[in-house]
Amino acid sequence: MTDLEKLKADCLGCSACGLADTRTHVVFGVGVPDAEILFVGEGPGENEDLQGEPFVGRGGQLLDKMLAAVGLSRQHNIYIANIVKCRPPQNRDPRPEEQDACIHWLRQQTSLLRPKILVCLGRIAACKIIDPQFKVTRQHGQFILKGGIWMMGTYHPASLLRNPTQKPDAFSDFQALRDKIGEVCAHTSLIYPTD
Ligand code: URA
Ligand code: SF4
Repeated sequence: MTDLEKLKADCLGCSACGLADTRTHVVFGVGVPDAEILFVGEGPGENEDLQGEPFVGRGGQLLDKMLAAVGLSRQHNIYIANIVKCRPPQNRDPRPEEQDACIHWLRQQTSLLRPKILVCLGRIAACKIIDPQFKVTRQHGQFILKGGIWMMGTYHPASLLRNPTQKPDAFSDFQALRDKIGEVCAHTSLIYPTD
């Protein structure tokens, strides 16, 4: 068992916050263990809770499409995780105390993956990881170096579904990400689907 597999096994048994009581599955994360790019969302929704995998609903399909447009996929070259690993009831925002109880799992994932780039999907992740005052509309697509990792926040896929006028900005953020990968990643190869 790899260290990441061990961490996942531990996480699947976690009941450190109240979200344990209502979850179906702990959603640990998915992707390749040598990924140089880590994406972080806020927490599982209904589909994720049922399937045990992050971003598998409508928002996830949009995310996969945007990833594919810049040669990225959870199958080949990235890792995807969330701030909280268990679904908040009715998809409410995860509470500060739930985020504080759970964040050590993400920190351990980050320590093991040692990504070059971390992309926050939406306000909750960006405020927890980049800056408590982060404003997505003002700061999306801007890279800052923090603790040796290039960090950027962009729109949450669910936000893009609600407000499609944000999509061009989100696509430019993904182009900026592709450029940053070219600058700072050592072994990430971009793979563009043919169909
Ligand atoms: N929204 C998130 O923030 N994370 C998921 O895994 C799914 C939806
Ligand atoms: Fe544990 Fe995180 Fe799930 Fe809370 S949300 S029970 S801290 S894994």
